[in-house]
Amino acid sequence: METIKIQGGIPLKGTVTIGGAKNSALPILAAAMLTEEPVVIENVPNVADCKTLITIMRDLNVAIDYIDEHTVRIDSGHMQNVCVDSEGVSKMRASYYLLGVLLGRFHEACVAFPGGCNFGVRPIDIHLKGFRALGAQMDVGAMIELHADHLKGRNIFLDFPSVGATINIMLAAVYAEGTTIIENAAKEPHIVDTANFLSSMGADVKGAGTATIRIRGVKKLHGTTYAIIPDQIEAGTYMVAAAATRGDVTVTNVISRHMDSVCAKLAEAGVGVEELDEDAIRIIGTKDMRPTRIKTMPYPGFPTDMQPQTMVLLSMVRGTSMINDTIFDRFRHVEQLTKMGANINVEGQIAIIEGVDHLEGCTVEATDLRAGAAMVIAGLAAQGETTVTNIKYIERGYESMVAKLQALGADIWKDTGTGSLKVIKGMAN
Ligand code: EPZ
Repeated sequence: METIKIQGGIPLKGTVTIGGAKNSALPILAAAMLTEEPVVIENVPNVADCKTLITIMRDLNVAIDYIDEHTVRIDSGHMQNVCVDSEGVSKMRASYYLLGVLLGRFHEACVAFPGGCNFGVRPIDIHLKGFRALGAQMDVGAMIELHADHLKGRNIFLDFPSVGATINIMLAAVYAEGTTIIENAAKEPHIVDTANFLSSMGADVKGAGTATIRIRGVKKLHGTTYAIIPDQIEAGTYMVAAAATRGDVTVTNVISRHMDSVCAKLAEAGVGVEELDEDAIRIIGTKDMRPTRIKTMPYPGFPTDMQPQTMVLLSMVRGTSMINDTIFDRFRHVEQLTKMGANINVEGQIAIIEGVDHLEGCTVEATDLRAGAAMVIAGLAAQGETTVTNIKYIERGYESMVAKLQALGADIWKDTGTGSLKVIKGMAN
C-alpha cells in the first residue's frame, strides 16, 4: 500500500506554481460533449478525478487525445449515449455532470449514482428538481434515468446555492427552448469558468458569478480552445502549509481575488499575507498566531474545501479557535489529528479547537481528499515522522503534491510499501 512519509518540523521556503482547478476541469471536460465539433482544453490538472472522467467519456466513444500532459483534444462527434455505470462513476461525485450533458444534448441520460468523498449524505435532489423543471421525466433507482421529449426554459429557484446543481442545470439548459433563469445560484469561480467555456462554444449564458444566471437556448454549439482557471483550493492548501510550518512561500499562477476569504482569515490569525500582484501571493508564517473563528459559507465566503487544512493550522495556535462547517458534516480528520496530539472537540457541525504547543508525528489516514491534504500539512508541521495512508484520496485532487513540497524543502517522500528507499528529490510523483 502506497503511503506518504514526512519528517516534520522544516519551514517550507520558495515558490510553488498552482495548476488548473479540478472543480472547473470536471464540468468543462463533461461540457465539451455538448458539441459535435472538436474542443481543446488547456491547463487540465493531471489528477485522478480528471483521468477517471476521461475514461468514462471514452466509454461513451468520445475521442480524447492528450496533446501534452495538461492539454486534451476532445471529439464527441461520434459519441454514443449509453448507460454509464462504470466503476468510475462511483469513484467521484462529479460524474453527476454526465446527467446534465446527456440530457441537454440527447434528451436522454442513464447514469449510476455518483460517488465521491464520504462526508455525510450528499443528495442530488436540487439537480433533479432543476432537470424536472426543464421538462425531464425521471426514474431514480440504482441508475438515474432521465428522459425529455423536449426541454423548455424555466425559472428555477435553488433551495441551496449548490455548486453541482447550478452547473448541471446550466449544462442541461444550453439547448433548451427559450430562457432558463437560475435563482439563488452558486457563485464559485468554477461556475464562472464553466459558463465562460460554454459561451466560448456559442452558448448564451449571462450572470455567472452572481445569484442569478440566465441561459438562452441556442440551436448549435461549435468547437473552441479554452484554458482552465487556477485551482484556488490547491493554492490555499500550500498557503496554509507555509503558515503551519512557519515558512515563507509564494504561490504563483493564482487569481488572487479567488483567495480573498482565505487570505483574510490567515491575516486575521496573524499570518503574513502579501498579494504580490494579481497572480502571486506570499505567505510568511509566524509563531505569534491568534486563535480564530471560521464559518464556511458558499463563495465568496470561506470555502468548506479549506476547512480541514485550516483546522491543522489552528490546532497549533495557543487559545481557543472554532470552526463551523455549514456546508458539509466533514470532520473525520479530527480523529486523525487527535492521534497526533491535537485537542479538538466536535459538537454537530462545530469544532472547538484548543491549541497545543506542537503535534507529534504518527501514522494517520486520509479520510477524504481535503482531509488527506490536511494530514500532509500536519505531518509537515509535526515533530518526528508521519505516515499518511489511503493517499489515493489525495491523488484525486492534487497533482504532484510530494514533488511540489520537496521543491519547497520538505523532507517528504512516497513509500511504495515494498521497503523502497526515499524517492530521490524531484523524482516523486
Ligand atoms: C462541489 O461539491 C465540490 N465538488 C466540492 O469539492 C465542494 O466542497 C462543494 O462543491 C462546495 O463548494 C466538485 O465540484 C466536484 P454542493 P457539490 O452541491 O457540488 C447540499 C473537493 O474537495 N446539496 O455545493 O456536491 C449538499 O449536501 C470537493 O474538491 C443538497 O442538499 O457541493 C451540501 O450540504 C469536496 N442537494 C450543500 O448542498 C443537492 O442536490 C453544498 O453542496 C446538492 C447539494
